[in-house]
Amino acid sequence: MTEEKTLSREALKMREFSYSPYSHFRVGAALLDKQGNIYTGCNIENSSYSPSNCAERTAFFKAVSEGIREFEAIAIAGGPEGAQELNYCPPCGVCRQVMREFCEDDFKIILVKSEEEYKVFTLGELLPQSFWADF
Ligand code: THU
Repeated sequence: MTEEKTLSREALKMREFSYSPYSHFRVGAALLDKQGNIYTGCNIENSSYSPSNCAERTAFFKAVSEGIREFEAIAIAGGPEGAQELNYCPPCGVCRQVMREFCEDDFKIILVKSEEEYKVFTLGELLPQSFWADF
């Protein structure tokens, strides 16, 4: 099984754990580090809305909080609860900026409809001319 397929399958599985009682929009993510380990995440909402966290950031924060800072790719699968088929779910701007903190332009972002149907972009394509502080 290709790396992309494995990550896609994991992202799809993670939708099951999505805590999204307000939007009913379930998102799963699977983040591959440079050692070949996968960190998963789902979106986690809150009744006061703004503390909600996207699936991508959940995966990144899990990894970074365990000392991992070098990443290869992330797969993202999202769509309304109960949907028969998914559309592609591109990462929000905030998540793209979090990716930028730890990843180079060639970091792969895999948008997943199903295990068979996914599109691969790079962070450079999805967040061109981005801010990165060179302190
Ligand atoms: N969401 C994600 O988890 N990732 C994205 O890339 C887009 C949006 C979540 C946030 C919120 O819980 C729900 O999807 C609807 O916006």
